[in-house]
Amino acid sequence: MGGDPLDLPVRVDLLEEPATLAINGGTPVRNRPFPAWPCFDKADEAAVLAALRSGRWGSRPSDGFGNEFATSLAKFQGARRAIATANGTVALEVALKAVGVMPLDEVIVPAYTFIATATAVLALGAIPIFADLDPETYTIDPQDAARRVTSHTRAIVPVHLAGQPADMDGIMAVARTHGLRVVEDAAQAIGASWRGKGVGTIGDIGTFSFQSSKNLNAGEGGAITTDDEALADMAWSLANCGRVPGGAWYHHDITGSNYRMTEIQASLLLSQLARLPGQFARREQSARVLDDGFRSIPGLAPQARPTAITGHAHHLYVLRYDPKGFGGRPRRWFIDAMRAEGIPCSPGYEVPLHRMPGVIAARRTWIDLALRTGRRVLVSDDPDEVGLRVTDRASREEGIWFSQSLLLGEDDDMVDVVEAARRIRAWCNYSGPSFPLPPQRGRD
Ligand SMILES: Cc1ncc(COP(=O)(O)O)c(C=O)c1O
Repeated sequence: MGGDPLDLPVRVDLLEEPATLAINGGTPVRNRPFPAWPCFDKADEAAVLAALRSGRWGSRPSDGFGNEFATSLAKFQGARRAIATANGTVALEVALKAVGVMPLDEVIVPAYTFIATATAVLALGAIPIFADLDPETYTIDPQDAARRVTSHTRAIVPVHLAGQPADMDGIMAVARTHGLRVVEDAAQAIGASWRGKGVGTIGDIGTFSFQSSKNLNAGEGGAITTDDEALADMAWSLANCGRVPGGAWYHHDITGSNYRMTEIQASLLLSQLARLPGQFARREQSARVLDDGFRSIPGLAPQARPTAITGHAHHLYVLRYDPKGFGGRPRRWFIDAMRAEGIPCSPGYEVPLHRMPGVIAARRTWIDLALRTGRRVLVSDDPDEVGLRVTDRASREEGIWFSQSLLLGEDDDMVDVVEAARRIRAWCNYSGPSFPLPPQRGRD
């Protein structure tokens, strides 16, 4: 991958008078809703009732719905082992701890991700070091990550953003060269694969989230996957109060915590998992329709998809916006115009984690502690100095997201999405007679 923002002519003159946009009082492209989320039916109701009626609602060490779900998930992702957890945030904390991340270690993460990727590192007393993105995929750039490795780096956390696997060839090569552990944050990527291998099974360990917005969801929930039996046992212990697999209930070899999933969560996830392959195929088809449509609109570019990606979970559909295709109007205006046309979309992560006040403050604490031990810490606190140029551009100017539930619509629904963008572009580039300038709105 490579390259910089789309190089477009500033203005393309169109002479056919365009339709009045809905944002200016015209008729919207669409007034029907997209599919509702979450999806459930009688099977899900029966699953929740089964857990309820079992009278055993808490997690069980070796049987019950939680263990059945862990086994099914491992099979689904192609992992040797899986451990169910309360949510994806604690799954990450446990995974990082299991691979040996210690206080004041450095862990390389992207900054264009949900805050949990960084707070899980901070929760262990370790220091997140942010690496930039590939400009076309918006996943972590392995070369930039390699540049940020120091003698204190313990691990690297590729995030499979939007359900798109990060460049795992590149990440594994960096990890091998520098002796780093790889923790895949696959919170958004259940079902995704790289060169035929399920995400969460390529690095040392992987983590998933089943929070409300996720493609597989029980309101909350998480999981850890790995092919390494010792790591799996360690992760199980850490998530189970330091108990030993198969050991006595009140025997604790290490200090873990209680990060267990309830039986009601697990039972609902089992029934939702049965629906996932059909939804996966539908989202893929929708994404193809959107890719084809958006590629024909100058100023819009879908997230690039390397051929090594054999399965994309499409937790989000990510579009890159270039104002030059839209008469210089900022992303916020385009999003408002799309929403007025009846197409829900969002700017996504508008504040990247290297600029997030909570992350900066917590990281400063651990850096100060490291400095007190006499160590040199080479990372700057100044977000303008850390060289996350692509990340900044993605968050502030370029990134536009459509949700996974929109992708559950039919081809006709996707055609509406593309048509709205096409109409907006035509209007922005019309240079015929009597053309009123649009109001410039938004914060971008
Ligand atoms: C990339 C990423 N990592 C971690 C998490 C944390 O998962 P959870 O919300 O289940 O704690 C999420 C989800 O919200 C996420 O999107």
